[in-house]
Amino acid sequence: MKKVEIVEVGPRDGFQNLDTYLPLDFKLKIIEGLIDSGIKHIQHTSFVSPKAIPQMKDAKELTEILLEKYPDFDFFPLVPNLYGARAAYELGIRKVSYVISLSESHNKANINRTHEQSLDELKNIMDNYGDLDICVDLATTFGCPFEGKFPVDTVLKFVERIVNTGIKEITLADTIGVANPKQVREIVSAVTKEFPQVEFQVHIHDTRNMGIASTLAAIESGITKVQSTLGGLGGCPFAPGASGNTATEDLVNMLNDMGYDTGVDLDKLVALSKFQKQHVKGNYSGHLVNIDKNNTCS
Ligand code: COA
Ligand code: ZN
Repeated sequence: MKKVEIVEVGPRDGFQNLDTYLPLDFKLKIIEGLIDSGIKHIQHTSFVSPKAIPQMKDAKELTEILLEKYPDFDFFPLVPNLYGARAAYELGIRKVSYVISLSESHNKANINRTHEQSLDELKNIMDNYGDLDICVDLATTFGCPFEGKFPVDTVLKFVERIVNTGIKEITLADTIGVANPKQVREIVSAVTKEFPQVEFQVHIHDTRNMGIASTLAAIESGITKVQSTLGGLGGCPFAPGASGNTATEDLVNMLNDMGYDTGVDLDKLVALSKFQKQHVKGNYSGHLVNIDKNNTCS
C-alpha cells in the first residue's frame, strides 16, 4: 500500500482567520482529537505579530502545553521572521515552517518584506539555529491575488534561490485556491526533476472546488506529504477572496478508499470535524462535515 502522510494545518491556517478568539482549551481539544485520529504532523500555531493575527496570541502557552504532553510529536509552527523562530526555539521547538511568497507583492502584504529581505532573514535564522529543521512555505506558488499566475520557469528560479540557502524541504502552497490539476502536475514534475534532493509538500486551498483534485494530482506526480485543514476551514487574511483549504477528512476518505495508507481513522476525524463546526462559525469547504450519517442513498 502506498503511504501518504497527512499534515494538518487547521489549528494555524483554519483558526487564524476567525474574528472571535478561540479559547486555548478548545484549540487543545481539537489538536488532541487530531492526534487521536492518527494524524502525525500538526501545524498547531504561528509565532507572528499578534497585531497581524490576533488569534495566534496564545502561541507560547499552547506550545508549552503541547510539548509537555507530547514531547515527541511533530509540531511545526509557522514563523515569518527571526523573532518568531527564536520564540519557538526557546520553547523547545525544533521544526518550523518559514513563509515566503513567490509573489513579491503578496510577500509585502503578508510579512512586509521584499524577497531579498525574506531570504536574508532565512539565512539569519539558519545561522542562529543550526539544529532547527526549516521547511519553506512557498505561498502563492500557483497564483497571486495581485500578480496572477507565474510561468513554471519563475517557480523554478525562485525555488533555486531557496535551495541555494541549504533548505531541504519546501511546501508549494496554493494560497488562494487557483491551482488546477494540470498546473499542479507541471509544477510538481518540474521542481522534483530539477531538485531531487528536496522534499516537496503541497498545501492547496479549495476556493474554486479544485482542492482535492489538485492534491491528488500532486500525489500522482510523486508527492507523499500533503497539507489540509479539518473541515476545510481556512483562508488568508492578506489574500483577498482566499477561502478554505482542502478538508482533511475528505482527503483521508478519498485516499483510504483508493487504497492509500494514511494511517488515519476516518470516523474519528469526521466526528471531530462535526464537533468543531458545531462550535466554531467559519468558512468550511469540506463535504463530509456536512453529511448527515443517515443521509445515505440506497
Ligand atoms: N511575533 C510576535 N511579535 C512580532 C514578531 C513575531 N514573529 N515579529 C515582530 N513582532 C513585533 C515587533 O516586536 C514589533 O512590536 P512593537 O510594535 O510592540 O514594537 C512589531 O511586531 C512590529 O515589528 P516589525 O519587525 O516592524 O514587523 P512588521 O510590522 O514589519 O511586521 C511581521 C512583520 C512579519 C511581524 C508581521 O507582518 C506578521 O506577523 N505577519 C504574519 C502574517 C501571517 O501570519 N500571515 C498568515 C500566514 S501565511
Ligand atoms: Zn493556506
